[in-house]
Amino acid sequence: MEEFIVTEKLTKSYGNVKAIQDLDLNVHAGEVFGFLGPNGAGKTTTIRVMTTLTKPTSGSVRIGGFDVVKESDKVKRMIGVVQQHLSLDRDLTVRENMEFHARLHHIGSSERKRRIEELLEYVELTEYADSMVDTLSGGMKKRASIVASLTHQPKMLFLDEPTVGLDAQARRRLWDLVRRLNSDGTTIFLTTHYIEEAEALCQRVGIMHHGQLIALDTPLELRKKLGLITVETLVDNKQTHYQYFADRDAATSYVQNLPPDVKTIIIRDSNLEDVFVEQTGQKVGDNQ
Ligand SMILES: Nc1ncnc2c1ncn2[C@@H]1O[C@H](COP(=O)(O)OP(=O)(O)O)[C@@H](O)[C@H]1O
Ligand SMILES: [Mg+2]
Repeated sequence: MEEFIVTEKLTKSYGNVKAIQDLDLNVHAGEVFGFLGPNGAGKTTTIRVMTTLTKPTSGSVRIGGFDVVKESDKVKRMIGVVQQHLSLDRDLTVRENMEFHARLHHIGSSERKRRIEELLEYVELTEYADSMVDTLSGGMKKRASIVASLTHQPKMLFLDEPTVGLDAQARRRLWDLVRRLNSDGTTIFLTTHYIEEAEALCQRVGIMHHGQLIALDTPLELRKKLGLITVETLVDNKQTHYQYFADRDAATSYVQNLPPDVKTIIIRDSNLEDVFVEQTGQKVGDNQ
């Protein structure tokens, strides 16, 4: 398996805060890798270091074999970045924003025009090409920022919390775009604090907590380690208890032998939220 990103003991401190600490992580070429964790876990900082926007305090990152600090120009040519907050100019049209980005990457005029038309078509924004960014819906703005970051044909795309603030329909549409980009050959690194997003999109996920990587595997393997089936019980109408089992049979026999004061019982598939809670005692949605 070809490794596209390799980090070694990557650390970034802001004063006393270790935003990321001793991160060892590999991202395979061709995968959708999900970086999951609550607010403040260190996800954006990791993207900023990987995309050369800020320097690590110690440790290293190589992307496509190049060091992000020493060979940042080569790295920049291979990657596209969509930040969480809109990085387009609101007072320009979609096409003008794409032009601007393509010029930054020194793409010649005729090639620029051809690629922009193709990309607009790809995300179904052709008829909005000459609209001001400010007049578009949230989902369209996000699709526009994604294609603007693709004009130099990067092999790898970083998406920081791509669906925050989008309604359910726009979110699904964006998931489809991510899948399509990936099946057309782009390696994707995305951060999210939505469990279902990581489960829906990512071949592998890394789970971050207070700057440290606490788990790394496919969603299925992470769930298997915990137990694929969860039993929730409510004791005395007060506290919910969670127990994890390898399969339905084991869960069912546990439930059949519960004492009579245990009232509400739910048997369900376990998920990445359960993995996170068991490792940290917190929910991904908690703000610490
Ligand atoms: N520029 C900065 N200056 C000081 N502290 C920062 C800065 N950027 C991030 N941090 C701190 O680093 C930690 C990780 O933040 P961040 O990477 O933004 O997390 P996430 O994206 O997972 O929400 C937080 O404690 C945050 O307050
Ligand atoms: Mg963030």
